[in-house]
Amino acid sequence: MRKFLIKGGKPLCGEVSISGAKNSAVAIIPATILADSPCILENIPDISDVQAMFEILEQMGATVERLDATTYKVDATTVTITNVFFPQVGNMRASYYLLGALLGQKHTANVLMPGGCEFGERPINLHLKGFKSLGADYSVSGGLNAVISVQTEKLVGGYIYMDVVSVGATMNIMLAAVKAEGTTVIENAAREPHVVDLANFLNMMGANIKGAGTSTVKITGVKELHGVTYSIIPDQIEAGTYMTAVAATHGTAVIKNIIPKHLEPIFSKLVDMGIKISINYDEDSITVDATEKFHACDVTTAPHPGFPTDMQPQFVVLLAMAEGTGIIREQVWESRFQYVSELQKTGMNIVIQSVKKKDDFLLIQGGKKLKGAEMTATDLRAGAAMIIAALCTDAESTISNINFIERGYDCVIEKFRNLGADIQRIED
Ligand code: EPZ
Repeated sequence: MRKFLIKGGKPLCGEVSISGAKNSAVAIIPATILADSPCILENIPDISDVQAMFEILEQMGATVERLDATTYKVDATTVTITNVFFPQVGNMRASYYLLGALLGQKHTANVLMPGGCEFGERPINLHLKGFKSLGADYSVSGGLNAVISVQTEKLVGGYIYMDVVSVGATMNIMLAAVKAEGTTVIENAAREPHVVDLANFLNMMGANIKGAGTSTVKITGVKELHGVTYSIIPDQIEAGTYMTAVAATHGTAVIKNIIPKHLEPIFSKLVDMGIKISINYDEDSITVDATEKFHACDVTTAPHPGFPTDMQPQFVVLLAMAEGTGIIREQVWESRFQYVSELQKTGMNIVIQSVKKKDDFLLIQGGKKLKGAEMTATDLRAGAAMIIAALCTDAESTISNINFIERGYDCVIEKFRNLGADIQRIED
């Protein structure tokens, strides 16, 4: 079994460069299915979810060529397969974007139920509601290998109000609607940076999408989309994870290749805690300095521009290193505290206050000295939190299930080592 072996105790210092955004890449790669010529995609992170998405596309008939470490040429004009039952599909959440892209281009798709990080129920009813409002029929077969089927003779623009803000549904409906006849309006749309990134990519291809990044997105259908060269945005959550790791270890470092605006919900919390942040807009970098004491705060997750749920586990560790008692409320996912028992193995003082599902919250008593532990990553972001926790002890820790971490963190060993961490991958 592969594990990370981490010897903690040193403040993280130096600099780290942020890779392309996972949650943009996993949508933009399938979006190439909509183009009538090849696309060049730049700033693509080398992570397993991205590799899986490329493999799926290749099995569907596309040609994928790696031009350099972060640049790929994708020719999806040769995609013929619309029955997408490959094992990679069931292992990742973002495979639901194949539904929108195939529906938009081929008017039919049969896709294995998406899998991915499990933290309670992850419904797709809003995606299906959106497809239906464009005129498509859908069905979901039951059983172990459930398949989602969508099809229509033609797509016609529609109106979709989302009663819950959903990133995936917003982006999937955009994919399905770009070539529909007429205009589609998505109300209460998600405003995450990757929603805007996908819209920018599609607009460069010739689409007509207005309002991405606001809660009303208007898509006027076009007949054709052409291939483009596009560089995806830096990963907001990867940047936030390194900022938090540096702060939790009382270090100081420069986080490079970022878009400061995307990080506001994260760094404003660091500032509230008394951690020094300076932004260099010319260099697209941010400096975190946590060499002095910092104090606890309350955090409630919310859709963008609220505090991101994907930073919630990492902040639990940060609060454990702060002075005072912090509170974390999770308001996006129903059950995203399942990793807490793993962090508690380090001696971290975390109490789950049970109210009722989705209203549970964490009380984190800071300032306790942590000890080395054998932890098991329960999902991608929880795994990142475990790395940070291990770095905050002055002992040796191991983390297993690292495949979760490799889904979303490019060169994770190398980047932490550059910051002075003692971390290695071992075979146990
Ligand atoms: C995306 O998931 C991200 N994944 C997640 O990141 C992230 O946690 C999440 O957005 C929220 O920011 C990808 O982009 C691949 P949602 P997504 O639809 O789109 C409810 C990570 O660690 N909902 O915005 O699947 C749902 O239950 C991953 O990188 C419905 O009710 O999330 C949740 O409460 C983990 N019906 C809320 O909306 C639906 O049809 C937000 O989910 C869809 C969602």
